Amino acid sequence: MKTKILFVCLGNICRSPMAEFIMKKLVADAGLADRFDIASAATSYEEQGNPVYPPARKMLAAHGIDCSGKTARRITAADYEHYDYIIAMDKGNLRSLHAILGGDPADKISLLMDYTDHPREIADPWYTRDFETAWREISEGCEALLRHLTE
Ligand code: 4NP
Repeated sequence: MKTKILFVCLGNICRSPMAEFIMKKLVADAGLADRFDIASAATSYEEQGNPVYPPARKMLAAHGIDCSGKTARRITAADYEHYDYIIAMDKGNLRSLHAILGGDPADKISLLMDYTDHPREIADPWYTRDFETAWREISEGCEALLRHLTE
């Protein structure tokens, strides 16, 4: 049985696709790719169908990660059934997820940085323009998540 993870942010063009592709690389590097099903989605329809935002794509490419083919899509009720972990970037995402999904009866929703020793939100680089910090923090969160899931 695969562990199924859906990363979620507002637009699904910056933070959650970065988390998706960083996590895919971490599990591949650990030889665990076939044990995981990893994807990402939005809480809004703002960027529906759009590719990963160029500065986020460049951060991934600078670390040897290709995210071509990924396009933004909004989370659905079927996603809530399919995925084991629904992992949000900030508290606004948590509020939106609860509203969209009608709560969290199976206790699947968490914040990415809650898996670290220093829980916090991932600031939205769409607004901060700081993709370096987003990269560093999302990597820290994904590394902590992988430890949580494998130790
Ligand atoms: P993300 O960033 O949630 O990290 O993908 C955003 C991208 C687009 C918008 C907001 C946040 N937007 O309002 O279009």
